Amino acid sequence: MLDSTLAKVSPPERPLPSLRLLRTVVRNPIEAWPRPVYEEPLFRSRLFGRESLFVSDPDLIRTVLVDRAESFCKAETMRRALRPALGDAILTADGAHWRWQRRAVAGIFRPERVAALVPAMLAATERTRDRLLAAGPDATIDLASQMTRTTFDIIVETMLSGTRGIDAARVEAGVTDYLESTSWNVAYALLKAPGWLPYPGQRRAERARDYLRAELLRLARERRAAGGGGHDLAALLIGARDPETGQAMSDRDVADNLLTFITAGHETTALALAWTFYALSRHPDVERRLVEEIETVTGGAPLAPEHLEHLPYARQVVQEAMRLYPPAPVVVRSALETLSLGPETVTAGTPVYVPVYAVHRHARLWERPDAFDPGRFAPEAARARHRFAYLPFGAGPRICIGMGFAMREAVAILAVLVRALQVAVPDGHEPRLKLRITLRPEGGLPARVTPRGRDPESPAGVASR
Ligand code: HEM
Repeated sequence: MLDSTLAKVSPPERPLPSLRLLRTVVRNPIEAWPRPVYEEPLFRSRLFGRESLFVSDPDLIRTVLVDRAESFCKAETMRRALRPALGDAILTADGAHWRWQRRAVAGIFRPERVAALVPAMLAATERTRDRLLAAGPDATIDLASQMTRTTFDIIVETMLSGTRGIDAARVEAGVTDYLESTSWNVAYALLKAPGWLPYPGQRRAERARDYLRAELLRLARERRAAGGGGHDLAALLIGARDPETGQAMSDRDVADNLLTFITAGHETTALALAWTFYALSRHPDVERRLVEEIETVTGGAPLAPEHLEHLPYARQVVQEAMRLYPPAPVVVRSALETLSLGPETVTAGTPVYVPVYAVHRHARLWERPDAFDPGRFAPEAARARHRFAYLPFGAGPRICIGMGFAMREAVAILAVLVRALQVAVPDGHEPRLKLRITLRPEGGLPARVTPRGRDPESPAGVASR
């Protein structure tokens, strides 16, 4: 039942020669990671003589992300890929400039504040549910973009007080167009090529970037002109002061952070959900148990915020989907000084990769690594595992600030949708995994959606099949 037929990357058995490696990095970097990344603790990669280090061993991952976090900064590859759009905001900044931005927004992610946002999450999901039901059973929808729409509505509603006038479809297309070109920035950074070198799709990516940056700047200015009041993310950013200089953020800084939160905060969760529905559509036994849990906890009533605390299996399903398909499948750093990492010496400036996708399927860390089994996240099984064998949200001081928000949101969306409708990804369709900063199903995720029938024999009202 818990077979291993789900879509996955087929790694090359041996490191690719430089030219092929470069081509693969541009097309789909995750396909360039060779088998040793999934089987060995460390792997050194060479591209035209330039070295990078892949760290798959959990103890060494802890060294990079936690114990020696100060000896690393965000990698040049990611900076070159993301800074043109996101500026020097919380995701892309380092050192003191990062720290004060993180402190400025931390309050909004306190558990009690996040809990207060759940009704908005449920309401947005109910709109999606109704939209999907209205599409009818014969329609093929793109589940990935439906999830993106839902999480976009939620991020705008909860972080920007539902700011009107943001064109969701254009922003979504803008983010996709921009990310599409990032693998060129990554490849050029690996080669230490100059930033002005042109690349295919550049005009489109720049148009997308300019649109996104102008929209968010407009929004930041409007909010400041209106007095910057309220309790949302925009208000926190406008009110923040650098503890060292006492300076407020400029409109540009506020806009860069808003764009960072919008992009980091909706696409990732949407992907987690799209992959979850894909895995469920191949594992009806898991889906059935999930629906049973929801019906038992709610007693058949509409899902309310307090129910979310009592859906441990739903949480496990999302966790397992993010093991197989981590929305952020690689975390990259650059060494600031020369240091030892296990048996290796890492010289200053070396890019160090934590290949989360490969760690989550590593032969030494997981039994039947490609099989979908939410039981791995039952409390005892999870406790028995190395903390750094599973890190969809990263780790250490740069751990995802939205982790609590994302988990509540994902469980809420999954629970509302899965009890109301059955999502079927056509049997012959095996999505190709594509790395563009995030892990996307290439070309989206086609699916058919049917209302879930109720079994009158079952007290829990569980779906009949
Ligand atoms: C399933 C959903 C999500 C996943 C898998 C995810 C994953 C990650 C990862 C791996 C990092 C660390 C990157 C690194 O160390 O280089 C990160 C950072 C970040 N995430 Fe998330 N994220 C998710 C949802 C969210 C949400 C909902 C928000 C905001 C509402 C958010 C905002 C951020 C921000 C601002 C950072 C940068 C934090 C810093 O550098 O201090 N993320 N995320």
